Amino acid sequence: MEWLEVEGGRPLAGSVRPSGAKNAALKLMAASLLADGPCVLGRVPRIRDVEAMRGLLEAVGARAAWSGPQELAVHRSGELLGELPEQLVGALRASVQLAGPLVALGCPVRLGRPGGCEIGDRPLDLHLQGLAALGVRVEERGSWWELYPPRRLSGAEVVLEYPSVGATENVMMAASRARGTTIIYNPAREPEVVELQGFLRAMGARVEGAGGPCIRIEGRDALEGARWEVMPDRIETATWLLAAAITGGHVEVAPAVPQHLGAVVQALQEAGVGVSWGDGWMRAEGASGGRVRAVSIQTQPYPGFPTDVQPLWTALMTVARGVAVVREEVYSRRFGYVSQLWAMGADIRVEGRHAVVRGARLHPARVQATDLRGGAALVLAALAAQGLSHIGGLSHLDRGYEELAAKLAGLGGRVRRVRSEPVPA
Ligand code: EPZ
Repeated sequence: MEWLEVEGGRPLAGSVRPSGAKNAALKLMAASLLADGPCVLGRVPRIRDVEAMRGLLEAVGARAAWSGPQELAVHRSGELLGELPEQLVGALRASVQLAGPLVALGCPVRLGRPGGCEIGDRPLDLHLQGLAALGVRVEERGSWWELYPPRRLSGAEVVLEYPSVGATENVMMAASRARGTTIIYNPAREPEVVELQGFLRAMGARVEGAGGPCIRIEGRDALEGARWEVMPDRIETATWLLAAAITGGHVEVAPAVPQHLGAVVQALQEAGVGVSWGDGWMRAEGASGGRVRAVSIQTQPYPGFPTDVQPLWTALMTVARGVAVVREEVYSRRFGYVSQLWAMGADIRVEGRHAVVRGARLHPARVQATDLRGGAALVLAALAAQGLSHIGGLSHLDRGYEELAAKLAGLGGRVRRVRSEPVPA
C-alpha cells in the first residue's frame, strides 16, 4: 500500500497550475457521444475518474484515446451499447452522465447504481424524472434501472425540485438532440454546467441560460465534433488557497477563474487570509500574525459555499483562533473524514449535518483517506502539523487530484509517496 508522507509545519510558497476541472471533463467526455464527428478535449486531468470514464466510453462502443499529454479524442463511430459495466459504474458517480447522451441517440440503457464517494444517499430520482419527461420509459429492476427511449426524444418542460448538477447536465445533453424545445427550471448554476453549455454550443447545439434561473434548449437533428479546452478546476484552486492559509505561506494559482470561487474568497478574507486575484490568477497569503480567525460556513448549491470545499474548510478551522460551525446542506453524511482529524488532535464535534470546530494544535499522525475531498482535508491538516504524517487510502485522492505530491513539492512542501509501511506515530 502506498502512503503520502508529509513533513508538516513548513509554509508553502510559490506558484502552481491546477489541472482541468474533473467535474467538467467527465461531463464533456460523456457529451462527446452526442457528436457525429470526433471531439478533442484539451487540459483533461490524468486522474482515476477520467480513466474510469474513458473505460466506460469504450465499453459503450466509442473510441476514447489520449492524443496528447492532456488531450483526449472521443469518437462515436459505430453502434452503441447501453449496457454499462457494473464495475465501472460502481466506481464512478459520473457514469450516470452517459445515460442522457445514450437515450438521446435512441440507445436503451441498463444502469446499475453508480458509485463515487461515500458522502450520503445519492439517489437518481431527478435524473430519471428529467429523462422520463423527454419521453424515456424508466423501469426499476431492483438494483438497476432500464431506460427505453423512443427513436427520438421530445422536448419538454422539466422542473427540478432541487438544482442537481448531474440531473441538469443529463437533461441538457438529452434535450440537445430531442425534437422541439426543452426548458429546465431551477437548474444547477455551477460553473461546470455553464462549461457543458459552452461545449454543446461548440458542437452546434442551441442551448442558452446556463448559470441562470432556467436553461432553454432547442433540439437539433445532428451535432458535429468540436474541440474544447477544459476550464481550470475550481476545487483544486481552492485547495491551494487553503493550503497557503493553513501553512501561513503564500501561493499563486494560475490559470484560475476568480469568479468561480466568490464564496470561498469571502470566507478566507473573513478569516484574515490575504486573497488577491486578476485575470486568470488568484493568490492567497496566510493571515498576518499567524493563525487564521474562526469563520462559520454553510454549504449550498452554487454560488453558495461549495460542498466539495467543506472538508478543507473544516481542516483549516482546526487550527483557527476561536470556534467555527461548519454546516453541510448538500449531502447527508459528509463528515466521515472527521475521525481521522481527531487522530491528529483536532477538536471537532459532529452533530448531524454540522460540525463544531474549536481551534487547537494539530500533531502528526498516520491517517486514512476515506473519500476524495476528505482525503484532501487530511493533506492540509498534515501540512499544518509539525512533524511527519502518513496518509493512506491514496486511491481516493488519485480519483480527483493529478500529481498532488509533485505539485506540493513544487511549493516547497516536503511531501512524497512512499511504499513502505510507516512506523506507527
Ligand atoms: C456533482 O455531483 C459533483 N460530482 C460533486 O463532486 C459535487 O459535490 C456535487 O455536484 C455538488 O456540487 C460530479 O460532478 C461528478 P447533485 P452530483 O446531483 O451531480 C441530491 C467531488 O468530490 N440528489 O447536485 O451527483 C444528492 O443526493 C464530487 O468531486 C437527489 O436527491 O451532485 C445530493 O444530496 C462529490 N436526487 C444533492 O442532490 C438526484 O436525482 C446534490 O447532488 C440527484 C441528486
